[in-house]
Amino acid sequence: MPDPLDELLEAARLASRSAYCPYSKFHVGAAILAGGRVYTGANVENASYGLTICAERTAAFAAVLAGASRFDAIAVSCADAPQGSGPELLSPCGACRQVLAEFADNATPVVVDGIGRMTLADLLPMAFRLR
Ligand code: THU
Repeated sequence: MPDPLDELLEAARLASRSAYCPYSKFHVGAAILAGGRVYTGANVENASYGLTICAERTAAFAAVLAGASRFDAIAVSCADAPQGSGPELLSPCGACRQVLAEFADNATPVVVDGIGRMTLADLLPMAFRLR
């Protein structure tokens, strides 16, 4: 039987192909499992660099806008990272970790392509939460 996290990672890899990244040329894809459905996203850059949005947030916002605001699992893939890259290049940025924490629990599984499986709390211990 296929592993749901492997399938989610495959969806993230596929989503990275949709990235709009003419400046960094760094394709990132994300996939979120929520309420039995998979929501994907990719980074979308802007000539005014600061307006760029990361793959994790486009996926998160797609899920939320579709009515799925509790995430069951998350996968991220940086398709252009050189072989052997470490977690500092491959794992979600700090801003995205906090956004994911809004819709996921500490124990929510996260799979980072090239690194492995972890929980959201591994990525963001002591996330800021108002509830
Ligand atoms: N990027 C993401 O999509 N997710 C992250 O967590 C880190 C960075 C994107 C933003 C930008 O388009 C490119 O990667 C290079 O920073």
